[in-house]
Amino acid sequence: MKDAGQARNWRAVVASAQGRIRIGKDAMDRIRLIGGERLTGTIPISGAKNAALPLMIASLLTSDTLTLTNIPQLADVTQLARILGNHGVDLAIAGKRPGQSSIDGQTFRLTAGDIVDTVAPYEMVSKMRASFWVLGPLLAREGEACVSLPGGCAIGTRPVDLHLEGLKALGAEIELDGGYVKARAPQGLRGGRVVFPKVSVGATHNVLMAAALAKGESVIENAAREPEVGDVAECLIKMGAQIDGVGTSTLRIQGVDGLSGAEHAVLPDRIETGTYAMAVAATGGDVLLERARGDLLETALDVLRGAGVEITATNRGLHVARNGAGLAPVEVETSPFPGFPTDLQAQLMALMARADGTSTIRETIFENRFMHVQELARLGADIALDGDTAHITGVDVLHGAQVMATDLRASVSLVIGGLMAEGETVINRVYHLDRGFERIEEKLGRCGARIERLSA
Ligand code: EPZ
Repeated sequence: MKDAGQARNWRAVVASAQGRIRIGKDAMDRIRLIGGERLTGTIPISGAKNAALPLMIASLLTSDTLTLTNIPQLADVTQLARILGNHGVDLAIAGKRPGQSSIDGQTFRLTAGDIVDTVAPYEMVSKMRASFWVLGPLLAREGEACVSLPGGCAIGTRPVDLHLEGLKALGAEIELDGGYVKARAPQGLRGGRVVFPKVSVGATHNVLMAAALAKGESVIENAAREPEVGDVAECLIKMGAQIDGVGTSTLRIQGVDGLSGAEHAVLPDRIETGTYAMAVAATGGDVLLERARGDLLETALDVLRGAGVEITATNRGLHVARNGAGLAPVEVETSPFPGFPTDLQAQLMALMARADGTSTIRETIFENRFMHVQELARLGADIALDGDTAHITGVDVLHGAQVMATDLRASVSLVIGGLMAEGETVINRVYHLDRGFERIEEKLGRCGARIERLSA
């Protein structure tokens, strides 16, 4: 295994990225909200975190420069830049050009001229699960990789068996040793047939990236159809990969000898879009979600329309309004794309806390994604849990309180709760929010929310 030692390989440019995005020391920051204000105005939608991360990882597949535009400024992006730096990826962050605004996101130029380290250590992978996805690309390019198992997290056990079975089908020899996955393909990976018994976004990313450089044809069946998987596939095609079936559950890949550089813009964040749509609905507001694409979250938008929220596509984005009318309760089950996304489940639950009746939300993707329930209850929400199903009975009023963010999407559900609540809500452990929501207090503040960050 190439193991050049992590300190030496952390690139200076990553340090500069860290300077732009404050992490670590902000762990104790809090968000203070005074509820009751209608949101009105415009909220720019950023590039999708869950596309930006695998797209950055795709830079490991080529020695050329991969240029990614519309990268959001998020703690997870900074963390991944540091991890990739450890493998030998040089990152240059381009400055803004005339006419570009903050909505345009950042431009990253990632160059993995040489892979200097094929080991992804526990200290890094445990901080961000998506970094486990370096396994496939490293193995495909270098014939070896040693990546720490990511471990569990607040939303569930989250195993990686599908990733490993998928890579084995491409000829990888895999052994588990001391909490690490040691993978080898001394003769290179070869095409194979992968039939996932369950839809996994991460396993699809991992196997798709590996198959792009395997010898011969690979077929991935029951592949995740999430738009972020399609975005990565489109970028790989620009890099020279041969992939058919993008956007469907069967991906057919003809492996190529090498991939080249390319330029690719990260697609808009559908989870941020859905979250702000729910925040607007929660406050009876009227907001344009600039650059949002309705086709990325039709099911969620249909649920909101069913609850009485007006949503109209315009040439600038999505216009969301709820003027005066109450909210009808909903019955929703999370499922892989194109179903209702698990990443919007907590936010919908917060919204339904004020609906006119009882809603039912069933979580089918992660077994423990209800950490927000007890925190929403602190605001006065009436939620009864029954296994994987939550019954939410709308109440007339929520009251501000001290609450604790437990994971990314749970945290933002508390922001939605706080926007609806009477009085002051203080959300602790805001670092969860910073992982996935770019400048949330600024975006909401500009639309009239009384929200501020309290630095520790
Ligand atoms: C991605 O996680 C997203 N993360 C998650 O978003 C999202 O919630 C999830 O997909 C589902 O849509 C990123 O894109 C960075 P999975 P991932 O593999 O890929 C089981 C957020 O808040 N499974 O699709 O890790 C697993 O336990 C995050 O932005 C196996 O059993 O999720 C789960 O029940 C949180 N074995 C289901 O599949 C495996 O080997 C789906 O997980 C892999 C997964």
